[in-house]
Amino acid sequence: MKYIPTFIFLILFSLTAPAEDIKTYDDGKSWTLFSGVSAYNIRVRDNAPAELYHFGTAARDFSLQDKAVGPELPVRGGHYVCRPVAEVVFNDGVRDLELEFVKYEIDRTGEYPVLVLVHKDIHYPLEIIEYIKVIDDYGLYEKRTEIRNTGKKHDVVIENLQSGNFYLPKDQYEMYSLTGHWGDEFQPSVTLLTPGVKSVEVKNFRSFGSSFFAVRPEGETSRTSGKVWFGTLKYSGNWRMDFEKFTTGEVQVASGINFWDQSMTLKPGESFVSPEWVFGYTENGMDGVTGSLTGYTRDKIVHPSHRGQVRPVLYNSWYATEFDVNEEQQLELAGIAKDLGVEIFVIDDGWFKGRFNDNGGLGDWTVDRTKFPDGLSPLIRKINEMGMDFGIWIEPEMVNENSDLYRAHPDWVLHYPTRTRHTYRNQLMLNLAREDVYQYLYRSISALLKEYNIKYVKWDFNRGISEPGWPDAGKDSQRTVRIRYVQNLYRLYDALRAEFPDVWFENCASGGGRVDLGLISKTDFCWASDNTDPVDRTFIQYSYLGAFPANTMISWVTFEDHHRQGHPIDFKFDVALCGVLGIGYDITEWTDEEKTVAAGKVALYKEIRETVHNGEQYLLVSPYLSDRSALQFVSRDGKESVVFVYNLAEDLQNSSPETRSSPLITLKGLDPDADYRIDGIEGIHSGASLLNYGVEFPVYGAYKSGIFKIHRI
Ligand code: GLA
Repeated sequence: MKYIPTFIFLILFSLTAPAEDIKTYDDGKSWTLFSGVSAYNIRVRDNAPAELYHFGTAARDFSLQDKAVGPELPVRGGHYVCRPVAEVVFNDGVRDLELEFVKYEIDRTGEYPVLVLVHKDIHYPLEIIEYIKVIDDYGLYEKRTEIRNTGKKHDVVIENLQSGNFYLPKDQYEMYSLTGHWGDEFQPSVTLLTPGVKSVEVKNFRSFGSSFFAVRPEGETSRTSGKVWFGTLKYSGNWRMDFEKFTTGEVQVASGINFWDQSMTLKPGESFVSPEWVFGYTENGMDGVTGSLTGYTRDKIVHPSHRGQVRPVLYNSWYATEFDVNEEQQLELAGIAKDLGVEIFVIDDGWFKGRFNDNGGLGDWTVDRTKFPDGLSPLIRKINEMGMDFGIWIEPEMVNENSDLYRAHPDWVLHYPTRTRHTYRNQLMLNLAREDVYQYLYRSISALLKEYNIKYVKWDFNRGISEPGWPDAGKDSQRTVRIRYVQNLYRLYDALRAEFPDVWFENCASGGGRVDLGLISKTDFCWASDNTDPVDRTFIQYSYLGAFPANTMISWVTFEDHHRQGHPIDFKFDVALCGVLGIGYDITEWTDEEKTVAAGKVALYKEIRETVHNGEQYLLVSPYLSDRSALQFVSRDGKESVVFVYNLAEDLQNSSPETRSSPLITLKGLDPDADYRIDGIEGIHSGASLLNYGVEFPVYGAYKSGIFKIHRI
């Protein structure tokens, strides 16, 4: 790293006993933020821009000799030191920023304290304000950055504004992230950070992975112990995360909107704020990461309408009837679903005007009268009489050329006049940055939810961006389109959720194509993958649950069986029960025996869901590392725990016993001094023994599973 700190700080900082969340030192220009086991130490020298001195363990004393590790707010300007968080162009063509520190403030008006650092350019009327929230009870911080054009005359163009950055001390690091593609979401990957930059980015609004990362000293960190710096971005458009390893050994981590082919112009008096970047530091290995992020997301990020409520059991008729829907056949499915214990019956694609296949209809959000001559009311009434709520599928951001909407407004899609309008799945993407498009979608969905007793909306998004043109916006605003699109997407969700607070919203994007804290904060749960094969799902769900809480993960039981193993439905149900349960089979074809198994599993789901949805979640055994997978949930009061065990292979008869892994599984999150009873296993178990020695769950053979309830005595 070329950054050469010149300042020797004159005050002795002792950080061993964090007494406050944000400590301001006597000089009024140094702060330590304490969160969980970490300390984040920032200082300002004279009026020079703030610098980061330490981010890591709080169990450390600062000395007179401390040196800065990097600028807290690196910008394009002056000497190159590292990746800039802010890059702007002024009206006269100057592209450098030169900042000075102005003031700080500690904002205590919200649930968590926020350190606000204000910098301004030394010449031009521009301020950059950094907000660092300290979320001590989850060991997290949340950063966002704002640029304000404080001038009266000229525009300023933002060419890049990241949410924030931090630095890691010199060491050898590896970076863990979740990537993937359709049908194979959230696949873990680990890479060594060598000198240079490792970037993970989204360019078309779809990731099938996530902006979640974990950086740890190479080879030293395990699931249960060791240092990890981790985080994720609260954003659903194009995002990026960059890990720059300097040749001197330190690492800079930065994340925010991906400004590739994007820019924002600020008129005098305007400001732009980045999305929030949540990050933290733990000394409890990947378990510490999972605990912090999933706990925070579940308790504070998931949309407040249903936060804390257990999630319903859904039936979705997509796999049973696809586009060919009518009242009679939906009622037949609903009658069976009700007997199984289903709580919400959802009609997927196919119910709206002109939707006979994926060639037409998208955009026209009224009921198709050839399929439902009397509208949806008679169907919904009968479903409600059965004791179930009713839900519906929409894909509001898309349009088919074969639709009334497109015929009336061909200019409402993202396009360039001289370029091909590329379709995907026969659809074009509406330009939601436009106010008329926003208003149309708001009116259509709101009218639908007002007219019908709809309690569940599955909001799909089945293609990525192409031709991001907005001819009407004029040349200067062209590159704002993706950012304004996401702003209006969030605004649309906000408006609908405020108007219909008891409706559940599902976030779907051809499976898990858009799972992030941004949309998790607007919805109740996400469809993790279109891949519903139970074995593939075991992998996808294990990774998903390492970063996101179980109450946000919808999992269906369907006919899919990619590996042709003929899995019985009890195995499929066991896989789906560790999230939000849905049934997607053509249940008219189920035998009585299958219906009995299904009803039993639905009943079990209702028994354990308080613990699964609202408890702490732990990953016990990784399917990526062994031939089985195990997950555990512990209720908030510690009285109940639920363990899921999935066997994915059988020990071959001739394999040598000494190479097989231990049948014991050690548990987590229990009280070592308490005693426990495990349903299905004889005897009383001490917490210490379950935590340290483990227990052999009686699940044997390939594709066999078990769900075990554990009770504190
Ligand atoms: C996407 C979704 C599916 C289903 C179809 C309907 O593929 O991921 O679950 O809703 O669209 O067209």
